Amino acid sequence: MRSSRDHHRHLPPLFALLIFLYLLSSQSAVRASVGEGEGTPGVVGYGYTVGSVAVDASGTALTAGLRLVNATSVYGPDVENLRLVASFEASGRLRVRITDADRCRWEVPDDVIPRQSPSPPRRTPAPPPLPSPSGSYRRLSAASSDLVFVLRDTTPFSFAVSRRSSGDVLFDTSTSDPSAFLVFKDQYLQLSSSLPPGRSSLYGIGEHTKPSLRLQPNQTLTLWNADIGSWNLDVNLYGSHPFYMDVRSSVGGRGRRGGGVGAGTSHGVLLLNSNGMDVVYTGDRITYKVIGGVLDLYFFQGPSPEAVMEQYTELIGRPTPMPYWSFGFHQCRWGYNNVTDLEGVVAGYAKANIPLEVMWTDIDYMDAYKDFTLDPINFPVEKMKEFISNLHKNKKKYVLILDPGISVNETYGTYIRGMQADIFIKREGVPYLGRVWPGPVYFPDFLHPSSESYWSGEIKRFHDVLPFDGLWIDMNELSNFNDPPPLPSTLDNPPYKMNNAGVHRPINNKTIPATSLHFGNISEYNAHNLYGLLEARATNEALVNLTGKRPFILSRSTFVSSGKHTAHWTGDNAATWDDLAYSIPAILNSGLFGIPMVGADICGFTRDTFEELCNRWIQLGAFYPFARDHSDKGTIRQELYLWESVAASARMVLGLRYRLLPYLYTLMYEANRRGIPIARPLFFSFPEDTMTYNINSQFLIGKGLMVTPVLKSGAQTVDAYFPSGNWFDLFNYSNSVSTASGMNVMLNAPRDHPHLHAREGNILAMQGEAMTTEAARRTPFKLLVVVDGHGNSIGQVFLDDGDDVEMGGEGNKWTLVKFYCEKTGNGVVVRSEVVNGEFALIEKWVIDKVTILGLRKGTRMTRLRGHELSNDVEATSGQRTVKTMGKSSDGGEFAIAE
Ligand code: NOJ
Repeated sequence: MRSSRDHHRHLPPLFALLIFLYLLSSQSAVRASVGEGEGTPGVVGYGYTVGSVAVDASGTALTAGLRLVNATSVYGPDVENLRLVASFEASGRLRVRITDADRCRWEVPDDVIPRQSPSPPRRTPAPPPLPSPSGSYRRLSAASSDLVFVLRDTTPFSFAVSRRSSGDVLFDTSTSDPSAFLVFKDQYLQLSSSLPPGRSSLYGIGEHTKPSLRLQPNQTLTLWNADIGSWNLDVNLYGSHPFYMDVRSSVGGRGRRGGGVGAGTSHGVLLLNSNGMDVVYTGDRITYKVIGGVLDLYFFQGPSPEAVMEQYTELIGRPTPMPYWSFGFHQCRWGYNNVTDLEGVVAGYAKANIPLEVMWTDIDYMDAYKDFTLDPINFPVEKMKEFISNLHKNKKKYVLILDPGISVNETYGTYIRGMQADIFIKREGVPYLGRVWPGPVYFPDFLHPSSESYWSGEIKRFHDVLPFDGLWIDMNELSNFNDPPPLPSTLDNPPYKMNNAGVHRPINNKTIPATSLHFGNISEYNAHNLYGLLEARATNEALVNLTGKRPFILSRSTFVSSGKHTAHWTGDNAATWDDLAYSIPAILNSGLFGIPMVGADICGFTRDTFEELCNRWIQLGAFYPFARDHSDKGTIRQELYLWESVAASARMVLGLRYRLLPYLYTLMYEANRRGIPIARPLFFSFPEDTMTYNINSQFLIGKGLMVTPVLKSGAQTVDAYFPSGNWFDLFNYSNSVSTASGMNVMLNAPRDHPHLHAREGNILAMQGEAMTTEAARRTPFKLLVVVDGHGNSIGQVFLDDGDDVEMGGEGNKWTLVKFYCEKTGNGVVVRSEVVNGEFALIEKWVIDKVTILGLRKGTRMTRLRGHELSNDVEATSGQRTVKTMGKSSDGGEFAIAE
């Protein structure tokens, strides 16, 4: 499995001698009985011992030599000498890297995910071996970090990561169970950590469809990108993200507040490795079983879920900003027959008064499913141009699909140019021939240095013909309709069989063979999980270079750091109540993986949808960060105007979505700056409330809004959990729920009453309702101020032109306005503060309405920016509305007195 780039590294002679002497003194003691665990390489006495340890001059990096003390017979020969480097990096992040000490091995390329190189120990001469052969330990800490690394010189050796402030052990590889020992072979790496039973709630490790966001005990989570419909539960899907967040409750973990100090303290763990793997979670242990690469672990100290996301995305890259228009509503279908069909859909939305921002075409538009071509009969170029031009005139957008498989066809320019550039993935020296929609295809190799110019050249040629606004990249796991037979190689037939597709399918099943080669002789075996990420990166670059604007890309396949380049949807779900419900854990997970712009196919992809389901789905899907209706060829049509009840709901919820656009867009800014997801699990805002840890049917949008959808057939009520605070129904402000410490509430939910609640303490910047995002942007702002028990609340709005490549970057092409509501002696003051006021739009910034919720009864308004007011006041209990706050480029203020 070693790539041709591998080479031997030699240990400094003195260092090697010390290891040797140390081993001589300790080895006899550990050559004990040897036996084989069932299905695991565990043997008694198996493992590695510490040979030598060096700490660098700053005391923040430690290097240890590890030596194998007993080999096992399963999954191939063991690597004899390992090197462990523990080092503190930016923001208190701790990296623990275990590699072959003698040879380079495959790792995720540094240009794909840039990272600090582990600092080599600077202390000279070489450090002495540990003072005693077993039982001693070395501790590594850094002033900047709450994490402590401990290396234990036991047999076998182990390490642990704990929290300095509380002593809580976060990760601990020590075990007496041989089946959980560290294993390091060429094609099998195993690392296992204990977890405190009952105190640790794990989230992440995907992509999988699961009913529960929190990982449930006794699961094997396989990571091997596959074209498997997301209607399948618990199997490896399109993306691989070996990252989890661990939210700890206090001892016992019982009760709403966990009953003790520290409930909600969170950390994150990433195993940065692109090889296939099974992650076995038992509840009290997490075990990685990886088929290659190195063990490169990162620990993110948190301690809040938000801080974990900031630290995680600092390493992997912050989510790319999305254009303003992409927060509008999208309509797609596999099976639009021709341009007239598309026009009919656009007209259908207009007639029904339902906002439609983006029209999509699936592979139907292509000529014989060839990328960058148009079907001359049904989607002829002139008609398509006219169609797009009309969309643009009406401030709408157009997105089309691309598949990676390039049709093998001697008369097809994209194929010819690909052959000339020699950029296709090869096997046995020739391009590997797969089969997808167009029949026989070759696949561009996005690790090839010329692939980006090839891909961007093709995109440009097509864009010159058809001015599309965004690209949808599908089938990039890679999907292959052929089942490539294995070559006699352990790459095509590795010794450890992952639980591929939940039934240990061969590694090559429905994808390109592991023995295929990318540029530089990098095997598909190693790089498989990177394909979607690399394609998204190339596509993003191509669009930025082509348009100079912020691109919109939607990718099915993802890997760690894909959020830096693309949005994501959850793939092929089914039009079922189950899949409606499972879309919530799926989109929340994507946020945890650093891909906040995410949605599921609204109304369901496969199977015929039906009115009640579609109605409930738009009530939920209108609040996905990315809202797109999409369906499978051959299913019934499901555009939202087709049923009156669905159309009515769509007008209501999309109307609210469009009013909330400034809020959503500001959350995009927060995601881009800090990595915090747009759609968040409840525990993000209420980490101390352990009741939130198991919630799968509700989520937050930012801090301020909670979505509680109906997910069951025939339901007229919905069970909601309200964490502490006052919550106001956004569809009817006089409905509110107040709870001091969290409570379950059954809400009435007839088919025309979706539930979205705003929490106290938040100021939401909203605008008027409109049929396009462009029109909505031209309406005056409206502030919804939800005060807390002390009369306070805060919020902010980010403004820019909506498609600058950067969001809030260098220069002054943007504005951030912060809003505060504060208690004064006898009332409250609402004021705004302009953080960066140069953006031209600010001139047009007008707030024409401020609605305050949660005031004490009897509070009345007296002044607006210093002027006495005599507005008509829309009052229900505790609610006041100011009609005008005024035009402002430098902030404003008004006061309300009791
Ligand atoms: C698979 C995608 O997941 C689906 O959304 C699309 O409609 C089909 N490919 C056809 O392109």
